[in-house]
Amino acid sequence: MSVRNIIKIGNATLRKKSKPVTSFDEELATLLDDMKKTMIEKGGVGIAGVQVGVLRRVIVVEADENEYLELVNPEILKTKGSVKDSEGCLSIPDFYCDVKRPKYVLVKAFDRKGKEFTFEAKDYLARCVCHEIDHLDGVLFVDYTDEGKRYREKFERGEG
Ligand code: NI
Repeated sequence: MSVRNIIKIGNATLRKKSKPVTSFDEELATLLDDMKKTMIEKGGVGIAGVQVGVLRRVIVVEADENEYLELVNPEILKTKGSVKDSEGCLSIPDFYCDVKRPKYVLVKAFDRKGKEFTFEAKDYLARCVCHEIDHLDGVLFVDYTDEGKRYREKFERGEG
C-alpha cells in the first residue's frame, strides 16, 4: 500500500466525470488499498478516485472508527430528509462550510470483487457518501453555497 498525492482545487481533473469500473482486478484492489491509506494518512473521512487522479467511480469512506467502506460504481437509490452541517474536503484545504444533504440515503454499489450490495446510511455517513459520490461527477461541496463559490473563484482565477 502506498500513499498517493491528493489533487487540489484549481486542478481541472477534479471537475471531470469518472467512468464506471469494469474490471474487478488486482489494479482495482491496489487502488482501493492506496485510497484508504491515503485518506487515513491525510486525516480524511472519505476519498474518491479522482482525488488521487484516477477517473474511476470508486470511493472509500470511514463508516466507523477503524471501519472503512469501499464503494465501487455507487448509485444513490433513495434519499430522505435534509440536514445542514459543516463539510470539508481533502482537495480543498482549510475551508469548511455548511452544506445541505439528505439525512438518509439508500445506496447500491459493488465491492472490490464485483459483488453487488445495497446499504443504508444516516446523518454523518450519509453526508460523507453524498460528498464522495459528488466527486465522481466533478461536483465539489463549495459549489453549493455562496461562501463556497467565493472561495472557489480564487482558485479558478489562479490566485489560490
Ligand atoms: Ni471531498
